[in-house]
Amino acid sequence: MTVYASETAAWKKLAAKKSELANVSLRDAFNQNPNRARDFSFSAGPLFIDLSKNLIDAQTLDLFAELADEVGLKGAIDAQFSGKHINNTEDRAVLHTALRDPEFMSGSLIVDGQDVIGDVHKTLNKMYDFAEKVRAGVWRSISGKQFKTIVNIGIGGSDLGPVMVYEALRGSANSDITAKFVSNIDPTDLAEKLKGLDPETTLFIVASKTFTTLETLTNARLAKKWLIDELAKKGIFDSKGAVRQHFIAVSTALDKVEEFGIDPNNAFGFWNWVGGRYSVDSAVGTALAIVYGKSVFRRFLDGFHQIDEHFKNSDFRNNAVVLMGMLNVFYVNFWGAHSHAVLPYNQYLHRFPAYLQQLTMESNGKTIRKDGTRTDVHTGEIFWGEPGTNGQHAFYQLIHQGTRLIPADFIAVANPVHPSKDYGAKGDEVNDVHELFLANFFAQTKALAFGKTKEEVEAEGVRPDLVNAKVFEGNRPTTSIMAVSLTPEVVGALIALYEQITFVQGVVWGLNSFDQWGVELGKVLAMQIYPAISKDNSALIAQDASTQNLINYYRTHRR
Ligand code: F6P
Repeated sequence: MTVYASETAAWKKLAAKKSELANVSLRDAFNQNPNRARDFSFSAGPLFIDLSKNLIDAQTLDLFAELADEVGLKGAIDAQFSGKHINNTEDRAVLHTALRDPEFMSGSLIVDGQDVIGDVHKTLNKMYDFAEKVRAGVWRSISGKQFKTIVNIGIGGSDLGPVMVYEALRGSANSDITAKFVSNIDPTDLAEKLKGLDPETTLFIVASKTFTTLETLTNARLAKKWLIDELAKKGIFDSKGAVRQHFIAVSTALDKVEEFGIDPNNAFGFWNWVGGRYSVDSAVGTALAIVYGKSVFRRFLDGFHQIDEHFKNSDFRNNAVVLMGMLNVFYVNFWGAHSHAVLPYNQYLHRFPAYLQQLTMESNGKTIRKDGTRTDVHTGEIFWGEPGTNGQHAFYQLIHQGTRLIPADFIAVANPVHPSKDYGAKGDEVNDVHELFLANFFAQTKALAFGKTKEEVEAEGVRPDLVNAKVFEGNRPTTSIMAVSLTPEVVGALIALYEQITFVQGVVWGLNSFDQWGVELGKVLAMQIYPAISKDNSALIAQDASTQNLINYYRTHRR
């Protein structure tokens, strides 16, 4: 029997708790409990997570655990990790956690007759072997040259994870190989990424779970043509051989890969129990294995696994993942939050918010619950963000003084990749630039939590008519996430943290967080509209008035 969150006792208690907390300032909360920072801080794998600047008290966390019990989170976690078909609309297991299970873990995992752990490691080892061959110059181009550039062609989960992690690891891992990522069907994307590349040293990865995605297959065909044409200009005319040597694939549809001309031996599989947005730790990460090597990729997987273990094994009251998921629910359903900012104070994480947009919004942007009924509470949040301190000079104004409550996660590491000193304008003072940067990280959550009162502003002698504009109300909730440095383990742990937070929210809201029917309609309509754009007048007439209007604008202005 489905238990709807809104009908639980904990839900009602949380509503009362919210009313009570609305009258408590974070200033008072910290004054009343000198141990608040310690009481609300948690370790999860390599991450240190401070929840103390959230709008909660100790009892709120008890209620989060109570709600988790009432909605059956324990059973849901067991069902996820054991391979039950929790993706009910597609009748699939959801086993991305198995992708990071260690090779020699005790016990096996047999799901739907498949030896999951065995198959995962067979594929990982095949991917590692190939990656090491490319890195060592054993797998070479058609003209015998060592590959220098990887071009990953994919979209959604077949792009956002690889590109985000490629950027995230640039500081902690060295490589002589660079990667480019092509996703958009806008021909500009491919054209710009191919600019200046040498066809003789470029290896393409076509990454597509289904191997049917319009954008990816169109770009892959364009890339194939580019390779053949550019090699021909250099006197290399073996086009079939070139494709077999310069193209590899990552997909669950290995039959389609062969049709494209890619050697099936150079195709790395995964399984329909890995959702696209949960796939960066599968063979979808082949570009990462080639660029950074097997040992870095293994460390990356280990970071995921550490969070999985924390999530699976910690009691809910001390489970950072569960508490963060519940906090998000609390803000959406009781405090009216619409969006959630993720603000990495680390330039290498600059694509992390974009990555989280697919993970969280494709997973929980739903109105219909798993049992087919319409939800009676709000679901999902808009995830967004930019690296600090850039955001401070752009949108932080709204977080500090706007009318909406925007919970924000701040992420930073203790040790920079590029320690540097700044000798100041006059050359007489020495600043540690990372510490200046971290000072901003600490200052922002402090300002958001504690604000600045009218009395404090007045005490500064501010002109009376400007006082109100300079007051900061405070009580703007933030979570601070820190780690020792941005290692591959930390990057994996950050991803797994948000994957499982998303799962927790989905369980509370009664959603299937693993399907994405909402992306289908637009794809179908695009193919119906396509003929109307340039040639087919009957297709044009079949369109609605607004679409006709826009197409007519295009027809009038195209050159
Ligand atoms: O259209 C959405 C989507 O299905 C995503 O869920 C997925 O990550 C993306 O398209 C790409 O799909 P594929 O890997 O099959 O090309």
